[in-house]
Amino acid sequence: MVKRVKLMPIFEAKNIVKIYQETKKGTKQNVVLQNISFSIKEKEFVIITGPSGSGKTTLLYLLSKLEVPTSGEVYFENKNLNTFTKQDERAFRQDLTGFVFQSYELIPTLTVFDNVALPLIIKGAKVNPDHIFNVLKLVGIEKQARSFPDQLSGGEKQRVAIARSIVHEPKVVFADEPTGNLDKQKAAEIMELFKRINVENGTTIILVTHNLSHLSYGTRVIELSNAHIIRDEILHG
Ligand SMILES: Nc1ncnc2c1ncn2[C@@H]1O[C@H](COP(=O)(O)OP(=O)(O)OP(=O)(O)O)[C@@H](O)[C@H]1O
Ligand SMILES: [Mg+2]
Repeated sequence: MVKRVKLMPIFEAKNIVKIYQETKKGTKQNVVLQNISFSIKEKEFVIITGPSGSGKTTLLYLLSKLEVPTSGEVYFENKNLNTFTKQDERAFRQDLTGFVFQSYELIPTLTVFDNVALPLIIKGAKVNPDHIFNVLKLVGIEKQARSFPDQLSGGEKQRVAIARSIVHEPKVVFADEPTGNLDKQKAAEIMELFKRINVENGTTIILVTHNLSHLSYGTRVIELSNAHIIRDEILHG
């Protein structure tokens, strides 16, 4: 008998609410996300969009466990992020996910090679130089392996940040406005790169951008406005 493999949701957000206290005394509340629910399947390339202040980064931080919801739950592979054990937490952070920040967050005193190898060193894995070079090649930065971050352009730094986010072959890569500091041409190249990682490696990508012309790279769009999802659609090329 042939077993059917159903694509499981990799993430489920159930009724998530995020409220920040606006004043020091905590008298005024800023409801950033109001009762949001959705699920994300493996291998999706989800683009989260919406105006500035609509909660895009907040949502990405809730999914990646950099923030906790005020109420509601986020599940990763059917496990509630809030009930993660230390081991779950370590696996989630060091094996299963990668994060690309808008401002790159590279270590200035380390070479490109060492910046990219760092996630493997942190988790105590063996660093195979051939593997690092393959990842550098994939993102097109292998010639600068021995350079330091301040010797690179913005687009090159972002490539290094992307290499670092995928070096441990995570299931999911989160990216917060990864093209925010780049010109149109460089931004398109970076979006192409995410598309390749999604298609060729089967990596689930959850990427925040306010640039609607980037939707063509994704397989799904989630648009936020006034604390709600106002659009959640599958994209067809
Ligand atoms: N740590 C925090 N403490 C208090 N308020 C916060 C915090 N982080 C975000 N906010 C508020 O939450 C709202 C949403 O912020 P968020 O950074 O998620 O928006 P965004 O959609 O990513 O915006 P942008 O496009 O400008 O990056 C804003 O009103 C912001 O001021
Ligand atoms: Mg943001």
